Amino acid sequence: MRQKRVIGILTWREGQRFSEPDYLRRLVKAGWKLGAEVYVFSHQDVNAKERRIKGFTPKTGGGWESKSYPWPDVVIDRYRKRVPQYMKLRHSGLFDFANSPFSKKWRVTQLLAEDERVSRWVPETYVYTKGKVMAMLRRHPLLYIKPGNGTGGRSILKVAAVGKQYQLQGRDKQYGKHQVRVDNAAAVENWVKRWVTKQRISDGNFLVQQGLDLALMPNRVADVRLLIQKDGDGLWDVTGCGVRMGASGSSTSNLHGGGKAIPFEAFMTKRFGEDGAQRILDECHTMAHRIAHTLEERFGRMMEFGLDIGVDVSGRAWLIEVNPKPGREVFRQMGSMDTYAEAIARPMKFALYIARNGEGLPEKKRKGAG
Ligand SMILES: Nc1ncnc2c1ncn2[C@@H]1O[C@H](COP(=O)(O)OP(=O)(O)O)[C@@H](O)[C@H]1O
Ligand SMILES: [Mg+2]
Repeated sequence: MRQKRVIGILTWREGQRFSEPDYLRRLVKAGWKLGAEVYVFSHQDVNAKERRIKGFTPKTGGGWESKSYPWPDVVIDRYRKRVPQYMKLRHSGLFDFANSPFSKKWRVTQLLAEDERVSRWVPETYVYTKGKVMAMLRRHPLLYIKPGNGTGGRSILKVAAVGKQYQLQGRDKQYGKHQVRVDNAAAVENWVKRWVTKQRISDGNFLVQQGLDLALMPNRVADVRLLIQKDGDGLWDVTGCGVRMGASGSSTSNLHGGGKAIPFEAFMTKRFGEDGAQRILDECHTMAHRIAHTLEERFGRMMEFGLDIGVDVSGRAWLIEVNPKPGREVFRQMGSMDTYAEAIARPMKFALYIARNGEGLPEKKRKGAG
C-alpha cells in the first residue's frame, strides 16, 4: 500500500502566530478529510539537508502542535509577505509548488491590458507619471488612483468631475478619511502628486485608472468577488461568486470599512432583472476562465484566483483586480456554507491531483527532483 500523500502549506509564522490562522486550520482539516498528511510550515522550518520539515497542525480546542515531518510531495504557497527568506525559498527549486509566483498588481494589469483576449474587460490604466491625471481627466469623468501593490482598499483615491469642479475622496494607509473639492484639473494633478508622495509604500508604483460607476445602490459601491479554482481533475472551475457592498458613503467595497456580502443572484436580479443577472453571471464566468488561462500561460501553473469584478450601472462587467492568494470569507459571510467548504477543499484536491499525477504541467523544473 502506498503511503499517504504529503501536502505542505507554506506561510508566514512567528512563534505560534500565523497569518490567517483560521483559514489554515480549515485547510489542514480539509486535507485530512481527503486522506492526506498535511501540515503548515514557514521558511525557518525547512531542513533541506535531512529533507525534513518542522510542521504545524491545529490542536483540538485551539492552538498548534509541531513535530518533524517528511518532505512534502506538493506545497501550497500562502505566504503573503515578500520577505527575502521566503523569496529565496520560493526560487530554490526545493519544492513542487501547486501555484507559481505571481507579479505585482501593476504588472499584471499591464499584461492583461495588452492582451487582446482579455483587454476588453480591463479599464484604461497607466502607471502614474506627471501629467497622466490631467490627460486621463480629459477622457474619463471618474478616476481611481491606487497603489500598484496595495491591499485592503488602502491609499486609494477617487477623483470625480462634479460640474466644473473635481471631488477627491480617499482613505490613507491608516484608513483615515480625506475629502476635498478643487477647481480645475491642474489642481487635481497637484493634489494627486502630494498624495502619491505621502502614501508611497516602499516599492509602490501608483496606477491611474479609468473609474467605473459602481453605484448599483444609492450612495454605495458594490463589486463582485469571484473565485475560480482548479478542481480535483486539474481543471479550472468557478467555485462561486458574491457581491461585496461597501459601507454607506465609502468609495471602495472592501469589507474593512463596514461592508457586507450578498449572494450574486439576489443582488443582480433586483437591479437588472432575471435575464440581465444571468447575462452578467455568464460574462463573469467567461472573463474568469479567459483570465485564468491567460495568466497561467504567462506565469506557469496556478491554483486559484480571486477576481474583483466591477459591474457598472449599465450592467457591463470589468476586471478590477486579480488576487493570486485570495480570501474566501465572502461565501461564509453571505451564508453559502457549501460553497465556502468547497472553496477550502479545492486547493487540497488540486494539490493531491498533482501529487498523484507527477509533474503534469510543472510549476518549474525541480532541482534534483526524484
Ligand atoms: N477603477 C475603479 N473604478 C471603480 N472602483 C474601483 C476602481 N478600482 C478600485 N475600485 C474600488 O476600490 C476597491 C479596492 O480596489 P482594488 O484594486 O481591489 O485594491 P485592493 O488591493 O486595495 O483591494 C475595489 O474593490 C473597488 O470597490
Ligand atoms: Mg481588491
